[in-house]
Formats: sequence, C-alpha cells, structure tokens
Amino acid sequence: MSTIKNDLVLRAAQGLEVERTPIWLMRQAGRILPEYRALREKFPDFKTYIKTPEAVVEATLQPIKALGVDAAIIFSDILVIPEAMGLNYEMIEKKGPFFPKKIQTNADIDNLSIANPDESLLYVTQAISLTKKELNNSLPLIGFAGAPWTIFAYMTEGSGSKTFSTARKWLYCNPEYSHKLLDKITTSTILYLKSQIRAGADLVQIFDSWAGILPPSHYSEFSLKYIAKICDAITEVPITVFAKDAYFARAEMAKLNCQVIGLDWCMDIAESRTLIPNKTLQGNFDPCNLYASKEVIKKETEKMLESFGKSKHIANLGHGLYPDIEADKVKYFVDVVKNYQFN
Ligand code: CP3
Repeated sequence: MSTIKNDLVLRAAQGLEVERTPIWLMRQAGRILPEYRALREKFPDFKTYIKTPEAVVEATLQPIKALGVDAAIIFSDILVIPEAMGLNYEMIEKKGPFFPKKIQTNADIDNLSIANPDESLLYVTQAISLTKKELNNSLPLIGFAGAPWTIFAYMTEGSGSKTFSTARKWLYCNPEYSHKLLDKITTSTILYLKSQIRAGADLVQIFDSWAGILPPSHYSEFSLKYIAKICDAITEVPITVFAKDAYFARAEMAKLNCQVIGLDWCMDIAESRTLIPNKTLQGNFDPCNLYASKEVIKKETEKMLESFGKSKHIANLGHGLYPDIEADKVKYFVDVVKNYQFN
C-alpha cells in the first residue's frame, strides 16, 4: 500500500474503498489564482516559467493551499513533447500555442526524433522530484501527457483551431504518414511518462482534448489505438484517460488497460457507468456551473455526487477551470465534495 497520508485519489483510482469522494481539478494550477499571476509576472514567458523547476513547484503547490484539493498535478504543458521531438513551439500571450515550423511533409515527420526525456525533459522530472520532496508524502502527485492524437493535431495544425481541419485532412490524405507520426509521438510519450513515474509521479493522466472532432472510426484508428499502446506500456502506476467529447467511444474505452476514465459534463453519468462498468470514473462538473451562486453550486454538486455514488469516483470538472472563475467559488465546490456524506 502507498505511504502517502491522503491517498484517497489513489485508492479511488484502484476501485478501493474510500471514506469520502476525493477531488482535484483540471487546470487547478495557474489559471485562476492571483498568487500564480504574481509569480508568473517575474518571468518573460510561459516556457521560461515551466523550465524553472523551483517556480514549477510553487505553481503546483499553490492550489493545495488555496483550494484544499486531494492531489497535486505537476505544472507544465502537453506541448513539451513536440519540442522534445524537435518541433519548437511558442506560447503566445492570451492566444495560445504557435508552431513556427509546423509539420507539413513526409520529410518533416522523418526528421523528427524520438524524445529522450533524460536529456530534453529534465526540467519536468527535476520539478517532479522537487515537488515530491515538498509534498513529503502528504498527497499524491499527478503526472500527465497529451494523447498522441491531440499532440498530432497541434503539430500539423501549427496552432489551436476551431476545426483542426488541417490535422484531420492528414488522416484522410496521408494515413500512412499520419500513423508514422502518431507512432513517434506514442513512443516519445511512453518514455516521457515513465521518466515522470521514476521521478515520483503517483498517477498519470492522458489528455485527449481534441478527441471529439474525429468520426468514431477515425477515433479508433488514429487515437484510441495509440492510447491503448500507452496504457499497455505503463504498468507502474494508475492511469486516467480523459478524452473530451468522445462520448461515442466510451464502450471501447472500457477495454483500455487503465484504471480511470475522465468524463466531460455532456456525458450522462448513469449511462457512462453502464458503458464503463469496470473502471473508476472522474469528473464531470460543468466549469460554468461555478459561475452560479453557492446555493446552486451546492445543489448541483450533491446531485453529481449522488449520481456517481460513493465508490469508484474521483470528483473533478468536465474540463479545465476557466480563467475568470472566482477562486472562492472553486474552494466552495471542493468543500461541498469533501463534506458530503452518503446515506
Ligand atoms: O492542470 C494544471 O493545473 C496543470 C497545468 C497544465 C497546463 N496545461 C498549464 C498551462 C496542464 C495539465 C495543461 C494541459 C494542456 N495544455 C492541455 C490539455 C488540457 C486541456 O485543457 O484540454 C492542452 C490542450 C494544452 C495546450 C495549451 N497550453 C493551450 C491551448 C494553451 C493556451 C490557452 C490556455 O489554456 O491557457 C496553453 C497554455 C497554458 N498551459 C497556460 C497554462 C497555465 C497559460 C499560459 C500562461 O500562464 O502564460
């Protein structure tokens, strides 16, 4: 058994009994906390920030103190993988990621390397080791990576997009090289997650943020297949797979070699339990619900907790916090979950 003092998230992930439903929040670090913004101002840009392990530790621990969540998630980004493979990105203030030289040809894919985390991602693993020391076995630390399809989408599109039509075009026009790129990302991601686990990550989450823009057949062929490879390769710690908007893939996701499936707020809870009977579910409060009054937040949170039931649930949002949600409301949501008593 784990030696972590509050191991509710890890126990719930393994389907074991818990005294109460544990909670952490996607994008709990950074987005909403004034103390993060104050720290961030000392750095010229986001990338410099995440490459400074001491600063990463602070951003990772801030939500523990401010919100009282049951797990920390290492402060970083999913786009560190393309960079470690040789494709540089910029994080443009208030706009998001931009790749000056996106993937456009077969040769671009042939020229990418497999990430070597012990060389190019040491800034993440060092931050994980430092954070583990600071946590001193009080709470679990979550590591993460993007799903290969979501990383592929950014690498071929070159930026965020409403449709990711350039990324989806690749799948129809050049499936052979699409698979080559997805394979390289998958191999890099497995090495990366294993290095995070060696550094101390107690659970890892795979974010497939752009799962929902693929037709189901493409989702199986170009995304789930690679997520499955990652799940099969990671046997050291529990894995959570969060595929936003992939309601159509839930039955297939039940077959993944992972312990937890993340749900977004559009996925019906009872239906998800039927489709994924064997796993712990994570989610799925609509972050917009946190703009409402505390009265409404309480009522809706308790409704969510009842629908999931006492076991095999890790409370979370259905996607990340939005930057303008008040920290006080978020803290209230966390407290309602922590104080709820099942009959
Ligand atoms: O969850 C956490 O608190 C840990 C930190 C974290 C960040 N990004 C920090 C960040 C995590 C888990 C991510 C994951 C991530 N990054 C995803 C998957 C989750 C999701 O939201 O769907 C995606 C798609 C990205 C790519 C990305 N990074 C975008 C689109 C942007 C710009 C818009 C935005 O989300 O803010 C980023 C930048 C980014 N990543 C910031 C932070 C705190 C903002 C930059 C800044 O503070 O200057």
